Amino acid sequence: TLQEHDYKVADLSLAGFGRKEIQLAEHEMPGLMAVRAEYAKQQPLRGARITGSLHMTVQTAVLIETLVALGAEVRWASCNIFSTQDHAAAAVVVGPHGTPEAPSGVPVYAWKGETLEEYWWCTEQVLAWPGGSGPNMILDDGGDATLLVHKGAEFEKAGAVPPVETADSEEFAVVLKLLHRSLAEDNQRWTTIAAGIKGVSEETTTGVHRLYEMHREGKLLFPAINVNDAVTKSKFDNKYGCRHSLVDGINRATDVLIGGKVAVICGYGDVGKGSADSLRGQGARVIVTEVDPICALQAAMDGYQVTTLEDVVATADIFITTTGCKDVITAEHMAAMKHQAIVGNIGHFDNEIDMAGLEKTDGIRRVNIKPQVDEFAFPDGHSIIVLSEGRLLNLGNATGHPSFVMSNSFTNQVIAQIELFSKTDEYPIGVHVIPKHLDEKVARLHLDALGVKLTQLSKEQADYLGVPVEGPYKSDHYRY
Ligand code: NAI
Repeated sequence: TLQEHDYKVADLSLAGFGRKEIQLAEHEMPGLMAVRAEYAKQQPLRGARITGSLHMTVQTAVLIETLVALGAEVRWASCNIFSTQDHAAAAVVVGPHGTPEAPSGVPVYAWKGETLEEYWWCTEQVLAWPGGSGPNMILDDGGDATLLVHKGAEFEKAGAVPPVETADSEEFAVVLKLLHRSLAEDNQRWTTIAAGIKGVSEETTTGVHRLYEMHREGKLLFPAINVNDAVTKSKFDNKYGCRHSLVDGINRATDVLIGGKVAVICGYGDVGKGSADSLRGQGARVIVTEVDPICALQAAMDGYQVTTLEDVVATADIFITTTGCKDVITAEHMAAMKHQAIVGNIGHFDNEIDMAGLEKTDGIRRVNIKPQVDEFAFPDGHSIIVLSEGRLLNLGNATGHPSFVMSNSFTNQVIAQIELFSKTDEYPIGVHVIPKHLDEKVARLHLDALGVKLTQLSKEQADYLGVPVEGPYKSDHYRY
């Protein structure tokens, strides 16, 4: 049984509802359930102590319980202050066999609507294991758990944490404050945790960028698997997931009719492609902005007008950022928008829209409409509607991607955890991708549910193409 200090969620009495939704999700997540069946006997994650930092949703609950079914011990936090589904968090803590009075599941530290201080406290809790040890694996989304361990170890080595005033953002100031306290208590804590970690599997584009950057600078302390760039992750979750969940977020937040409106999608990568499709599907006239000529040309050939934000800022109705870049929509842009324009972000971090600049605008007035929906009224009388304070709106205003697409992403996550944990020698410090035969396996696990019948290559055809009959079918440089 878990003690009360072993978890922190909104309300354990929501566990019954959470469990019912988890059971529905299991049916829609054939990849994860197949992996459970395949490895039930072998228990490849026995001995793994996994710290997870990833949106605490119903789909993530199925991931967590899959890791447990494979032998792992798990502690979990969300990777965003607004993305937790409180009933899912409660159900994971209670566990399949526990009750709210005697929870026997997995320690979760996550609730919807955390402050930044609470968010980083939760991240700290999932990195601290009972008995004073740390995790030996991290499963990350956006890289915050990995960042905390690396920054902590870096400052311990330097012998001091930089002054809080030197932080370049409100959020990093919170991290520095936490590390000041932590180093005062124990100045070897993060170094010890880092030394015990066999590897991290990273879920998203932005987190993967951080990992490659750390590795380039020689700062990466343990091996990493880039789950995002599995084909069955980024070409599905980022694209088809956002195609589903972007309009879901806008609808739940505003209920505005999208058909006939002019919508601007900033960025035409995987998330941008799915997002543009999502709004076009509702009958919006979609305009794309891009910095990369290849993606700009793709958008044009997909039939979208491609122009700069400045060109359309005064006339469009809906603005969505999908870039993973910063300062894409500035306070000046928002001041120039038309009355009740909707502004939201679906990229990982909240710096795509300059929320700090918006709040500092002279005479601006913020009116909260409901949780995660705010109207900002400018002194000239016009106002704009900002979703989830500029944080990813598909998880803040809706419930994120649906189970079936997340089954693809999370099957890759489980495979990455097994690889890093059980074949540690094959993965030196660096950033690795999942081998292609496993990527194809993830896709295969999802075909039956959709009634897909694959064509079989004959031996002669396979020889002609120069591929094995059973795959992999493509070279590593093939782009899908
Ligand atoms: P990507 O790299 O495929 O696409 C980003 C695109 O934005 C690129 O084509 C880039 O050229 C363009 N871009 C960069 N700066 C720009 C600027 N200033 N103006 C216009 N375009 C610009 O990345 P991907 O996979 O599409 O991910 C985008 C973001 O979404 C990342 O932060 C990622 O972590 C996040 N993400 C969010 C999900 C969600 O459910 N909300 C799901 C998957 C990813």
